[in-house]
Amino acid sequence: MSDLLEQRLQQRLDRVLFSKEQIDQRIESMGAEITRDYSGQPLTVITILQGGALFMADLIREIHLPLKLDSVSVSSYEGTESTGRVNFHQSKLPDIDGRHVILLDDILDTGRTLSAISQRFAEECSPLSIKVAVLLSKQVDRAEHVDADYVGFEVGNEFVVGYGLDYNGEYRNIPLIGVLKDEYIQS
Ligand code: IMP
Ligand code: MG
Repeated sequence: MSDLLEQRLQQRLDRVLFSKEQIDQRIESMGAEITRDYSGQPLTVITILQGGALFMADLIREIHLPLKLDSVSVSSYEGTESTGRVNFHQSKLPDIDGRHVILLDDILDTGRTLSAISQRFAEECSPLSIKVAVLLSKQVDRAEHVDADYVGFEVGNEFVVGYGLDYNGEYRNIPLIGVLKDEYIQS
């Protein structure tokens, strides 16, 4: 990204929560942990699009094992609010029979997304196991219980953008995680 674009986008942030260096470091140690946990096992990493794409790209390069990649595309947010419904954008699920699965998302918030996907995988496929890795875990009362097995960072109950996280589809390409200035949020 050019310095100018980066500067312009980052000027819209009120605060930076996690720098690119902090994110890189945390993902490196998460990758090392996953490498230890899944050594010798058939592993498939499944990312939840769009938000999990950046996290996946960086995390899998820190997992030093043979693995397969897949994705599911869902949405549940409008603006800065969860709608309470999880919409699957495709009907065919990844082929995970006989494999250990790590489901990746950018952030665990109400828990509805990860819970709905894990449930469908468990009911409609035959994986050996399903674990969850999230870059961020929001400190809120969950609507659905989700055990996150690998967590990058805890965040407070506020709306964050960058590193895959969007506001109305934008800001995913900011290489760090922060909070938007109020003037950029439509009320
Ligand atoms: P959950 O289903 O409420 O746990 O939310 C998960 C999804 O909501 C994530 O994959 C994000 O797409 C979106 N989300 C939740 N919190 C935020 C946020 O603070 N910023 C941007 N997206 C968010
Ligand atoms: Mg998402």
